[in-house]
Amino acid sequence: MIQGICFDLDGVLIHTDELHYLAWKGLADRLGIPFDRAQGDRCRGISRMESLEIVLEHTDHIYSAEEKERFAQEKNEAYRAMLARLSPSDLPADVLPTLRELRRRGYRLALASGSKNAGLILARTGLGRYLDAAADGRCITRSKPDPEIFLTAAKMLDLPPERCAAVDDAVAGIQAGRAAGMVTVAIGDSAAHRAGDYDLERFGQLLDLFPGPGKEEGL
Ligand code: BG6
Ligand code: MG
Repeated sequence: MIQGICFDLDGVLIHTDELHYLAWKGLADRLGIPFDRAQGDRCRGISRMESLEIVLEHTDHIYSAEEKERFAQEKNEAYRAMLARLSPSDLPADVLPTLRELRRRGYRLALASGSKNAGLILARTGLGRYLDAAADGRCITRSKPDPEIFLTAAKMLDLPPERCAAVDDAVAGIQAGRAAGMVTVAIGDSAAHRAGDYDLERFGQLLDLFPGPGKEEGL
């Protein structure tokens, strides 16, 4: 029986996945390195430094650890400049009504995002009010597909992971949720890969999947 739902942030609750892509693309363009959407999709869910390695795939130049640190910082500053312009109107229309209804049905809701910028996004959009707990990149040492972030979110909800569902747009995120022992719900890129126990086309379909704790889930 599912009692808690743990949500990834970027690409699930808000389209900041696109802003990550644009910030990495800006860095790649400045360095004169080709970087395409397929590479951007492979950055979903994984850490900032792991993403940078994908950005640097198509260059023969060997960069030092210090240069890589500076590149990651440059990307993060460009990304945060975009986040600073976010407002509640940037939330997809079905996100808040869906979260409100899931909570009304009795589910406990948590954030399970690997991003160190999650707090800024929650504050800019007002999303924080709709969640019972928030685990983000500052709470963990291992990024998805490691289960740490989902296990941390379940602990914050005071629920065993088996009583939780993990909702994620990243294949690495679905792997993390599964490794945590959760029911996995894929949306966006991970659903296109048919990675989840359930693969959704729209966020609002969570209401079809989760009728209420104690009732059988299914689409
Ligand atoms: C995840 C994104 O949510 O956060 C990844 O899907 C990103 O693409 C990761 O690398 C870390 O984000 P940040 O904001 O700490 O650089
Ligand atoms: Mg994501």
